[in-house]
Amino acid sequence: MKPVALITGSGKGLGACIAQHLASEGYKVVIADIDGVQAKKTAQLIGEDAMSITLDVSSEDAVEKALDTVEQQWGLPWLLVNNAAIMKAEKVLEISMGTFDSIMAVNLRGTFLLSQRFARRLRAADKKGRIVNIGSLAGQNGGTATGAHYAASKGAVHTLTKVFARDLAPHGITVNAIAPGPLDLPSVAETIGVENAKRAFASLPTGEPGRPETVARMVVEMARPDAGAMTGSIVDINSGLYMR
Ligand SMILES: NC(=O)c1ccc[n+]([C@@H]2O[C@H](COP(=O)([O-])OP(=O)(O)OC[C@H]3O[C@@H](n4cnc5c(N)ncnc54)[C@H](O)[C@@H]3O)[C@@H](O)[C@H]2O)c1
Repeated sequence: MKPVALITGSGKGLGACIAQHLASEGYKVVIADIDGVQAKKTAQLIGEDAMSITLDVSSEDAVEKALDTVEQQWGLPWLLVNNAAIMKAEKVLEISMGTFDSIMAVNLRGTFLLSQRFARRLRAADKKGRIVNIGSLAGQNGGTATGAHYAASKGAVHTLTKVFARDLAPHGITVNAIAPGPLDLPSVAETIGVENAKRAFASLPTGEPGRPETVARMVVEMARPDAGAMTGSIVDINSGLYMR
């Protein structure tokens, strides 16, 4: 039987790439995104091994319903990828509490909520599983001057990764994170502008942004059934911008 993976924010961008890669590796994939139209398109591109779900990761009810739907149709997933996130470029002095709260709600609350509810179900069924969180270089080095809310949310995602990993380690549920630097994705130019993105990519130590496929392959490795010893890790894919 094919393992099931639920990937949040997978209607487009990195999440869609991860979902496509997991499907090509033999997974059935749940494309869960607040943009249901985009989620459906991506699921259709993948084919019969994909289902789409409209999901706002910050809503407790929606998360429970989404997990119910997946469980009823395909059974409990083996893998959860917390990828959904939002970002707005704003200087610290200009950030409104509305923006601050919405970024925290999606990036941090959403990651916590999905992880907790998924892990609860795994424990209730006495099953093992895998959680992979998509963090960010910004969560380690503060990122740019225009993303305090985003960087703080991602730093907290890295911390959640470690605490969930510690708590769930005795139960065969591993929790890891990937911390990408700039990726070769449209969202970078959408956030900081096309010219700034070009300049940023050119000035990277490696001279190239991260490839979404590299992140997707790392997800597959972290999710392997025989990778049970890998937990609480935060793997950097950041073009040499930050070395711990
Ligand atoms: N793009 C980069 O260079 C980069 C760098 C570091 C980390 N990341 C991280 O990678 C992940 C994906 O980034 P991306 O560039 O593909 O972003 P993106 O904006 O292209 O895609 C994000 C997806 O999340 C969905 N989404 C937004 N709010 C949601 C919600 N409340 N519930 C469910 N889905 C929601 C969007 O509809 C969209 O499909 C994010 O966690 C991001 O922080 C990206």
